[in-house]
Parts: sequence; C-alpha cells; structure tokens
Amino acid sequence: MSYLVGKDLFKNFYIDFSQKELSVLKGINVSFEQGKTYAIIGVSGSGKSTLMHLLGGLDYPTSGSVLFDNQDIFKFTILEKEKFLNTKLGFVFQFHHLIKELNVLENIILMGLIKGDQRIKCINRAKDLLKKVGMFEKINSYPTELSGGQQQRVAILRAIFNKPSFLLADEPTGDLDAQNAQGIVDLLINCQKEWGMGLIICTHDKAVYKKMNHVYRLNEGILKLENLVQ
Ligand SMILES: Nc1ncnc2c1ncn2[C@@H]1O[C@H](COP(=O)(O)OP(=O)(O)OP(=O)(O)O)[C@@H](O)[C@H]1O
Ligand SMILES: [Mg+2]
Repeated sequence: MSYLVGKDLFKNFYIDFSQKELSVLKGINVSFEQGKTYAIIGVSGSGKSTLMHLLGGLDYPTSGSVLFDNQDIFKFTILEKEKFLNTKLGFVFQFHHLIKELNVLENIILMGLIKGDQRIKCINRAKDLLKKVGMFEKINSYPTELSGGQQQRVAILRAIFNKPSFLLADEPTGDLDAQNAQGIVDLLINCQKEWGMGLIICTHDKAVYKKMNHVYRLNEGILKLENLVQ
C-alpha cells in the first residue's frame, strides 16, 4: 500500500512588477492512501491546481515536502522522477495538454511505449479504454479536431494507461455534460477497484465529489476535511 503525503507545504508566488508575494498555500498537511478516493474543493483561485502540481512533483514548494512511500519526491534523481511520473502517478491537467502532433491513439499509447510495453498490447488496451468512454470513433483524430470534453476524456485515458498507484485529476469533468461526467467518474472508481488506484480529484461538481471517500476543502491556504451535509 502506497501513501502520498504533503508535509508543511507552503507556496508563494512572486509577481515581478509589484514585487509582491502571493501566499497561496499556508501549511498543508495531508496524507493520501492508495485505494481510496479524495476530492479537493474550494473556490476558484484558492490554490487547488497549485497543490496538485506540488503533489505530482510538477512544481516546487516554497517550503515543505511531498513524500511518496516516505521518499521525498523532490530529492529523486532525474531517472527516479521519470519512473515515478511514468508508472506510479497519473496526472490529468486542468487544461488537457495533449500532444497536438499525435492522434488520439498515439497520445494514449505513448505512456505505455515509454514504459516499454509491447505496441500491440498498448493498442488493444487503448481501444478498450476508448470504447468505455464512447470515443472509439475518434481513434485517428487529432486533438484540434476534438471538442474540449473529448480532449479531456483522452487526457484521462492517457493518465490511467499505466495503471498508476495514484491519479491526480484537476477538474477532470470540467468540460463534460452530466452524463459523460458520470461515465468518467465511474471509470475512475473502477480503476480504484481494478488495481487499487488512489484517486485525488479537484472539482467544483457536487455530483463528482459526493462519490469520493473523503472531501477536503482548500480555503485561505489551508486544507480541511469537509463535513458534507447530505
Ligand atoms: N505561476 C503563477 N504565478 C503567479 N501566480 C500564480 C501562478 N499560478 C497560480 N497563481 C495564483 O495562485 C492562486 C491559486 O491559483 P490556482 O490555479 O491554484 O487556483 P485554483 O484553485 O486551481 O482555481 P480554479 O478553480 O479556477 O482552477 C491564484 O490567485 C493564481 O492567480
Ligand atoms: Mg485550478
């Protein structure tokens, strides 16, 4: 069982022209357990994406650390970090970031190919996943030919492709209608069941966060468990 832990995380941004410091995260302590599902909610600008980037090792904290199985991810060597990002952690960005020169299939299987899986095995898995999210007919399309919600679904499949221990998903249903959002949440919860993936989702969507085991609210730079009134 793996754990992803944020320890005393602070993040300040420096805004050049005014030399002012913006203090976004003010001491976050949180522990996520593999096989459980978590939502992080909070108003726009509260720092949800900032926190997700730190947890995924994509940006550095001003102070504090992120531990994966008791190892500080910011002290990984380049190779260790690549392995961590490739096999242990999936990341869905708020703004998709698909590779525009690659089609849908290529965007998804890329992760498996980097890991060293057989091409045909990757293609078959990608086809199965595309069918599950109603995207099979777009297999040869390029990102610019897709709607926002379709790009979002491809980005999610890419992120879960290597069966990560944790998926960090930043507003994964933000561009989707209620029915497709439901489909994605069901798919992610299935991943939790199928290989014990831990799921950490930032969302404004109550239909999504009420399905998670734990809901945290980020407010004034501090993360607290939310008591949901059903
Ligand atoms: N690279 C950056 N440089 C300066 N300020 C930044 C940077 N990234 C984020 N911020 C600021 O940090 C604050 C938190 O931003 P963040 O994107 O984490 O919010 P969020 O909770 O994800 O919002 P949303 O719900 O709109 O996605 C905002 O005030 C934002 O302007
Ligand atoms: Mg955000």
